[in-house]
Amino acid sequence: MTRSAPHPAGASNIPRHVAVIMDGNGRWAKSRGLPRVAGHRKGRERVRELVEAAGESGVRYLTLFAFSSENWRRPAQEVELLLDLFLAALDQEVARLHENGVRFQVIGDTARFGDKIVERIRAAEALTRGNTALTLSIAANYGGRWDITRACAELARAAVSGAIDPARITPEMVEQRLATGALPEPDLFIRTGGEQRISNFLLWQLAYTELYFTPVLWPDFDREQFAAALAWFAARERRFGFTGEQIDAARNA
Ligand code: IPE
Ligand code: IPE
Ligand code: MG
Repeated sequence: MTRSAPHPAGASNIPRHVAVIMDGNGRWAKSRGLPRVAGHRKGRERVRELVEAAGESGVRYLTLFAFSSENWRRPAQEVELLLDLFLAALDQEVARLHENGVRFQVIGDTARFGDKIVERIRAAEALTRGNTALTLSIAANYGGRWDITRACAELARAAVSGAIDPARITPEMVEQRLATGALPEPDLFIRTGGEQRISNFLLWQLAYTELYFTPVLWPDFDREQFAAALAWFAARERRFGFTGEQIDAARNA
């Protein structure tokens, strides 16, 4: 069993780590005859709401997919608007996050955003590093394949230098080198917007995560919707490869 695969006896009704694909902003705007960016703006408000609701519910880690490594394929104007919104959010929200004891970090290939943005991200991370109420990870220019490939490359470098023996590479050694390194595996995955796919989000990390798909578009995903996802999660039986009988026995022990 790998380091982070939890034992059933340790299972909880509140997910420790929730990972979200916030999808449907464009369709939300289109259905109202608005430009796509209006959906992204409304979506940003929902992020604030979710961070609060997650913290209040006892969730300790929240990881949000804000921009995928494939989203560069969108029209340049939309990409630019998304980056502007991200920067504005960074400037306007970090102080509040810090006040609320939230640790903030960005996971993804941030170098592509340029030095100025990277500097601001690192400053926000440094400011909130000591906070422990909730860890908020924003996945920006993130891709699951990029993440795993990067971890493999790091292991390859260590093997070439003689620091590690390739025959002794374990799943834990890969996991520690992922962008989510120190975080526990997500317990609950939520995708809004009706699509039932992972879209290159946390490919490795979602191995045993409960997957919740809702047709609700991200700009409509409010506290009530989040509560519904938590209720759905609480009713799942997570078996991690064990039998249902083993799970019952562990629970009653
Ligand atoms: C998610 O909403 C936001 C990002 C991908 C940045 P979309 O913009 O993908 O909205 P739809 O899927 O087109 O409705
Ligand atoms: C996934 O949504 C990425 C984010 C929400 C940031 P997409 O809208 O890009 O996913 P696809 O293209 O429908 O798979
Ligand atoms: Mg989409």
